Amino acid sequence: MKPRRSILSVPGHLEKMHRKAAGSAADVIMLDLEDSVPVEAKSSARSQIVRSLLNQDWGEKVVTVRINSLDTPFAYRDLLETAEAAGHRLNAVVVPKVDHPGDIHFVSRMLDGIEMEKGITARIGVEASIETARGMEGVSEIARASERLVTLVFGIADYSASVEARLVSISGHGESEAALYPGDRWHFPLSRLVMAAKANGLQAIDAPYGNFKDMEGLRESGLKSCALGCNGKWAIHPGQIDILNQVFSPSREDIDRAVKVLEAFEDARSVGRGAVAVEGRMVDQATVRMARQLYEQASHLKMV
Ligand code: COA
Ligand code: MG
Repeated sequence: MKPRRSILSVPGHLEKMHRKAAGSAADVIMLDLEDSVPVEAKSSARSQIVRSLLNQDWGEKVVTVRINSLDTPFAYRDLLETAEAAGHRLNAVVVPKVDHPGDIHFVSRMLDGIEMEKGITARIGVEASIETARGMEGVSEIARASERLVTLVFGIADYSASVEARLVSISGHGESEAALYPGDRWHFPLSRLVMAAKANGLQAIDAPYGNFKDMEGLRESGLKSCALGCNGKWAIHPGQIDILNQVFSPSREDIDRAVKVLEAFEDARSVGRGAVAVEGRMVDQATVRMARQLYEQASHLKMV
C-alpha cells in the first residue's frame, strides 16, 4: 500500500488550492465536497473536482474525493458525477460519518456499477471516516465491510460533537486538549480505530490538527498518533505537510536501531538463542518483528 503520512484536505470548489496541492509534498490529496464546501457551491465543486482530476498533474500522489455523508441530498450525486467522469483518475472515495457497514456496502455497490459501465480497471478504493458514536461502536464491522476499504480515518471534531464532548479550542481539531482532561481524551477511540483497521489490513489515519500555525502542537499530536499505530494524519494547510511526513517516517536513528536489532538477532540465532541482550535490553522475536516492520517501511520510503 502507498504511504499515507500526510493527507491534505483541499476545498473542492477552490481551483487555485488544487494547483497548490498538486505541487505540494503531501502523500495524499483529498479533494473535499463535504464540510469545507458551502451548500451553494456543492454543484460547482463537483465540476471543479472532475476538471482537476482530469487535467491536473498529480504525479505519484494518491488522489481521493470526500463525498458528503449519505444522509444528505448531495452524497449520491457526489459519487456518481465524480466517479463516472473521472473514476479512472481517482484512487479512493472518502465516506464521512460512516455509521454502519451498510454505508460502505452502498458506496461499494455504486462503484461496482460505475466501474463496469465506464470500463475502469483500477479498482477505486473506499476510506471510512469514523466520526460518530455509532460508527465507533461498530468500527470492527465497518472495517470488514468491503474489499475496497483501504483506510479508517478518525474524525475528531464530529466525533466530539457526537459524544457531546466539550469544545476546548476554536477549531475543535485536537488542540488545547490538556486544559480539560489530564491525559489524552481521544486515546480510547483512536486506539479502538487503529485496532479495527490493523485487524483488517487497513491503514489508520488520524484527524487534522486545527491550529495550523502551531507546529510544535502538530508535531506532538502526530507523534502521539504515530505511537498508537496510525500511519498518517490529515492536514488542513500546506504548512503542516513537512512535519507530518517527518513524524510518520522512521528517523535515521530508528533505522540504525532496527538494523542493530536484526543483526544481533541473526547472531543470537546462529548460537541457538531465542532472546538476546542488546545494550542491556532484551531483544526477542517480538522485538525483531517490530524492527523488521520499521525496516520495511524505511525501504518502502526508499530510505535504505
Ligand atoms: N490546500 C491547498 N492550498 C491551501 C490550503 C489547502 N488546504 N490551505 C491554504 N492553502 C494555500 C492558500 O491558497 C494560500 O496560497 P497562496 O499563497 O498561493 O495564496 C496559501 O496556502 C496560504 O494560505 P493561508 O493564507 O495561510 O490560509 P488561509 O488563512 O487563507 O486559510 C484555512 C486557512 C484553514 C481556511 C485553509 O487552509 C483551508 O481552507 N483549509 C482546508 C480546510 C478543509 O479542508 N477542511 C475540511 C477538512 S477537516
Ligand atoms: Mg467531519
